[in-house]
Amino acid sequence: MIQSLIFGLEAKDRPRVGREIMRFNHRLADTGLFTDEALARLIDEHPRSELTVCTMQENPPPDQTWIAGEANGLSGAELVEAASRGALWISPRSAMTKNPRYKAVFDKVMGDFSKATGLRVLTADAAVLLSGAKMGIFFHVDPADTMLWHIRGTKTIHVYPPKQEHVTEQALEAILLKETLSDLPYRPEMEQDAVAVPLEPGEAVFWPQHSPHRVVNGPNLNVSVSVEFNTPRAALTNGVFYVNGVLRRRLGWAVRTRGTPAVLKPAYWAGAKALKVLSPPRHNVERAHVRQFDVDLSAPGCIRWREGFGPQALGEAA
Ligand SMILES: [Fe+2]
Repeated sequence: MIQSLIFGLEAKDRPRVGREIMRFNHRLADTGLFTDEALARLIDEHPRSELTVCTMQENPPPDQTWIAGEANGLSGAELVEAASRGALWISPRSAMTKNPRYKAVFDKVMGDFSKATGLRVLTADAAVLLSGAKMGIFFHVDPADTMLWHIRGTKTIHVYPPKQEHVTEQALEAILLKETLSDLPYRPEMEQDAVAVPLEPGEAVFWPQHSPHRVVNGPNLNVSVSVEFNTPRAALTNGVFYVNGVLRRRLGWAVRTRGTPAVLKPAYWAGAKALKVLSPPRHNVERAHVRQFDVDLSAPGCIRWREGFGPQALGEAA
C-alpha cells in the first residue's frame, strides 16, 4: 500500500476537525518537489503572469499592506536565490493544481487528508509559497477553508478566533461579494485571543473557517503550500453570508449570519447560487496592485525600486 502523505491525525480527533486549530504532519518533502532545483523548475514552467512577487519590512506588523513587484527576465533559479537572500515573498499561484507534476501529489495529499479527517472536499486549490527570512503574511481572513503545509524553514502562524470582535459579518460579506480584498482591520487588543502556532518542516495546521490569521517567518528561507478548499459545510456557511450581504445592501436588512440554524443553510446556499447568476456583485476589486519594484539580485534585499517608489513604502521608522 502506498504510504499516506498525511499523518498525525487520529480517528479520535475527527470531532475537532474544522472546529479547533488542528496540527498534523505531512511527507511533502519526500516527493522531491520542494528542493531549490525543483522549485526553480516549477517557476520556469509557471506562467510568469501568475507569479505573485511582494516585499515588506522584516517582521511585518499585522496591519501592513502588500507591496507588489515584478520578476521579469530572471530564471527560476535566480528567483529561488532572490527568495533565499532577499526581502521577498514569491508565490506561483495555483501551482499545486496547474502544474501536472505537483497536481499528482496534491490530489494524493488531499485524498489522504479527506481520509484522515472524514471531510468531503468539493473543490481545492493551492499555491506554493517561497518567502525570505522574517517575511510574512499580514492579518487577513480567507472565505474558504484554508490550511498551511509547511515544508522548509521555520515560521509562526497567529490564528484568531472567527468572532465578531476580530472579523465582522459585514467584513466577511464584503470579501465574499468581492467589494474588498481579504485584508482586515487590526487592533493590538486582538492578540489576547490569538493562538501562536510555530511550524517546523513537515508540520501542517488547519484552522476553523473564517479564522483571521497572519504569519511571521523565522530567520531562514521558508517554503510552504497554502491550501484553500471547500467542504459542504464551508460552502453552506458562505452561502448564508453571501445572501445576507445582498439583503443588507439592497434592502437595508439588519441581518445576523452567525447563529443561522443549520436547517436553513441549504436554502441560503441555493439562494446564493441564484443571486450570483441573477445579480452579480456590483463591485469587483482589482486584484493587481501597482508594481513598485523589480527583483534584482544586485540590489539591497534584491529589491530595485521603480521610479516614484522607494523603501519609505515599507513604513519602517527612518
Ligand atoms: Fe490566509
